[in-house]
Amino acid sequence: MAIEHEVETTGLAGWIDRRFPMTSTWKKHVSEYYAPKNFNFWYFFGSLALLVLVNQIVTGIFLTMNYKPDATLAFSSVEYIMREVPWGWLIRYMHSTGASMFFVVVYLHMFRGLMYGSYRKPRELVWIFGCAIFLCLMAEAFFGYLLPWGQMSFWGAQVIVNLFSAIPFIGPDLSLWIRGDYVVSDVTLNRFFAFHVIAIPLVLIGLVVAHLVALHEVGSNNPDGIEIKAKKGPDGIPLDGIPFHPYYSVHDFMGVSVFLIIFAAIIFFAPEMGGYFLEANNFIPANSLQTPQEIAPVWYFTAFYAMLRATTDPFKIVLMIIVALLGLVALVRARGKWKLGLPVLAVLVVLAMAFTESKFWGVVVMGSAVISLFFLPWLDRSPVKSIRYRPFFHKVFYGIFVLAFLTLGFLGTKPPSPASTLIAQVCALIYFAFFLGMPVWTRLGTFKQPPERVRFKPH
Ligand code: HEM
Repeated sequence: MAIEHEVETTGLAGWIDRRFPMTSTWKKHVSEYYAPKNFNFWYFFGSLALLVLVNQIVTGIFLTMNYKPDATLAFSSVEYIMREVPWGWLIRYMHSTGASMFFVVVYLHMFRGLMYGSYRKPRELVWIFGCAIFLCLMAEAFFGYLLPWGQMSFWGAQVIVNLFSAIPFIGPDLSLWIRGDYVVSDVTLNRFFAFHVIAIPLVLIGLVVAHLVALHEVGSNNPDGIEIKAKKGPDGIPLDGIPFHPYYSVHDFMGVSVFLIIFAAIIFFAPEMGGYFLEANNFIPANSLQTPQEIAPVWYFTAFYAMLRATTDPFKIVLMIIVALLGLVALVRARGKWKLGLPVLAVLVVLAMAFTESKFWGVVVMGSAVISLFFLPWLDRSPVKSIRYRPFFHKVFYGIFVLAFLTLGFLGTKPPSPASTLIAQVCALIYFAFFLGMPVWTRLGTFKQPPERVRFKPH
């Protein structure tokens, strides 16, 4: 039975309600949106991501008032904002710190989804919209990073756009097309500015709306991973549900307060965060004739960057052997139309790998690391959603996966050495084994029986 949302009939609210679904929308999505009563700390990060999104848009608008998207003026316009514009330094630091905090919050938000199986049926679309948001966020950060026109902005963009030239046949033309010039130049800066301030934010906002609409259609998951809609009272309200407002609006307000304390502490005391949020080389104006000794992306990209760097010629051979073995397994195990299709595909991939440079496969590995996330709802075959009711070894696997990702992130910030490359290669294999092996390992072990109703202790 669907819940009926009563609307106002008198006064100004009544006048509006007869013309626009104001009260019913507020009730449907806020005051009568029933969320599971056992949300914990991990449920802060969705609302925090929304807060950071608003922060980025508002501070971005004010930055744009004084920023000049012109290769001869961009760097000094940022210095002008920092030194001359009243409160300009605050607006700029709120934006640069906001970029890093966006990724902190979103990574934790994604980890929560992973732990509680929030990507599983019926929330596949919530997850897919989330993954698309993550892709957009990466594009947004990449385009934005060119705008201060410092050494890292310039050389970072140069390296990343050059990656596209490794794609067989179309690569060189494609990277020329993206840059609009033979090197990163004023033309590139102008188009990256257009993407950063309008194109990507529009898509991002659309995706966030879709993410929340999809979530409210199916209802929130919770740390127990059980569906509260399965047990409703005679009034149609889930027995374990409580209205989002005021219960979770107050809960989220607490999270926002703690977050703002941390956010302000970074802005006022460590806006560069030891070079992790703002890199030292980016305080030097872009110079196309002088390559910095070390070109490293900002911390939130380093795990993927480490995978790219780890894809050396010997590692390509390891990947070829793995693909060949997977083809062999498919030949033995697959049925129906996959029986021949998969092994043939494996042979074609191995042949393609043999005749193309490892740099291209580095790009493929890096891209696949993000794309794998989209398939999570169908890779995980465990009979329960939440980590709470999975066998102990599943928790160990999650732990190893997270450790491998963090190690990659750390290695990506350092100059490569033979030892660190080897470690990065092992971590990259662990990362992919976690996803590829999922249809098998998530079914194994003894699962605990999830409770009938959510577990909740009032504090
Ligand atoms: C701009 C970025 C994002 C914003 C503003 C955002 C916002 C939200 C909000 C407000 C919620 C409900 C509150 C909560 O459960 O924490 C939510 C839930 C969720 N989000 Fe996001 N999100 C973002 C990015 C992502 C990404 C990148 C993913 C995954 C790839 C993701 C996956 C999910 C899932 C699976 C849920 C449902 C969780 C559950 O019910 O247990 N989100 N999101």
